[in-house]
Amino acid sequence: MSKYAIQLSPGHNRVYYMESQKLSVAELTITASGFDSKCSSPAIENIKGVVCAAFTCESKLSRHEIALLYNLSFAFVIFEVVEIDGDTYLLPIENLSPQYFDDKITTILKYQGKTNETFTKMMINVAAQTCSTTNDTNLRLLDPMAGKGTTLFCGLTRGFDVYGIEISTKYTNEIGIFFKKYLEREKYKHTTQKRTITSKQTKKQIGKASHFEFAHKQDFADGNTQKLEIVDGDSALTNFYYKKNYFDIIVVDLPYGIQHSSKQQRQSKGFTRNPEQLLSASLPAWRDVLKRGGVLVISYNTNVISKTKANDLLSKAGLTVLDEDIYNQFEHRVDASIKRDISIAKKEIL
Ligand SMILES: C[S@@+](CC[C@H](N)C(=O)[O-])C[C@H]1O[C@@H](n2cnc3c(N)ncnc32)[C@H](O)[C@@H]1O
Repeated sequence: MSKYAIQLSPGHNRVYYMESQKLSVAELTITASGFDSKCSSPAIENIKGVVCAAFTCESKLSRHEIALLYNLSFAFVIFEVVEIDGDTYLLPIENLSPQYFDDKITTILKYQGKTNETFTKMMINVAAQTCSTTNDTNLRLLDPMAGKGTTLFCGLTRGFDVYGIEISTKYTNEIGIFFKKYLEREKYKHTTQKRTITSKQTKKQIGKASHFEFAHKQDFADGNTQKLEIVDGDSALTNFYYKKNYFDIIVVDLPYGIQHSSKQQRQSKGFTRNPEQLLSASLPAWRDVLKRGGVLVISYNTNVISKTKANDLLSKAGLTVLDEDIYNQFEHRVDASIKRDISIAKKEIL
């Protein structure tokens, strides 16, 4: 038996307040359920004054599994817990996860309506751990309501290729400008392409895409690149922008209600603040572009749409809602008007 303890990042309870521990345990349980050796249910423990999420495993975790633990949205330091001469010691384990994009890209931009990056990382982890399309790190992620790109930037730090759709032209322009500057400043080799997307039926323009391909010098020369693409368009048209069975995971934070929309957004065609309408209009298209075995994670304000309603819409769209207890531990208060929850659904492998 081996025991592990993950020290909770000091910022974590600032994001979730009282609910921080519940969310950490749920995220860890989902991640550990994919490990080769059987792990006990994690629990919050205070070991030698360190508050951690602790669990035991039948055998030692592999390097890859430790890397997955370091990707957890709340992980600060991971320890192996050992008993020597009747006393307990915490042995820190080196973080050997492959380094892709520096995490700082997720925190640079600050703006009203931004989805918290710790919460976004948690949703990405849940989607990536639940998805059964591939074991590769190189997943293809879509955020079909990308705002100014938090999900895309969090996905880059995991080594994924990331794609976003956003109805606000102001936001998509800002993502393009910010990201190009970032690549230049951090000395990435990169190419940029723009394309307009027209409807085959009407021949009218239905979106504009900006596509970046990038890597550090040697990787770029070897063809080991990552991709970020942002489409200025309407999420309901996702299946016009991308082919069927294209994405491994879809992660999206739905609009919360009235508070965050700008005048420019409100005037955009296809814009509505109503998450139920948005989901109904977009889910068939999202399902089309998701691979079999792929996973969709949505977050929403339960004061505006209930979890029962959200799950019902997911099922009606032909997705299988993951509804075991462990997937129902994520509800938390954000502020006086927002109580947030997530729903997780899979496109079944036939
Ligand atoms: C909660 S915000 C997402 C914030 C984003 N995760 C971030 O941190 O920047 C929801 C986004 O959905 C966008 N949106 C609303 N309706 C849309 C539609 N039909 N198609 C694409 N995006 C839409 C809004 O403009 C808003 O930026």
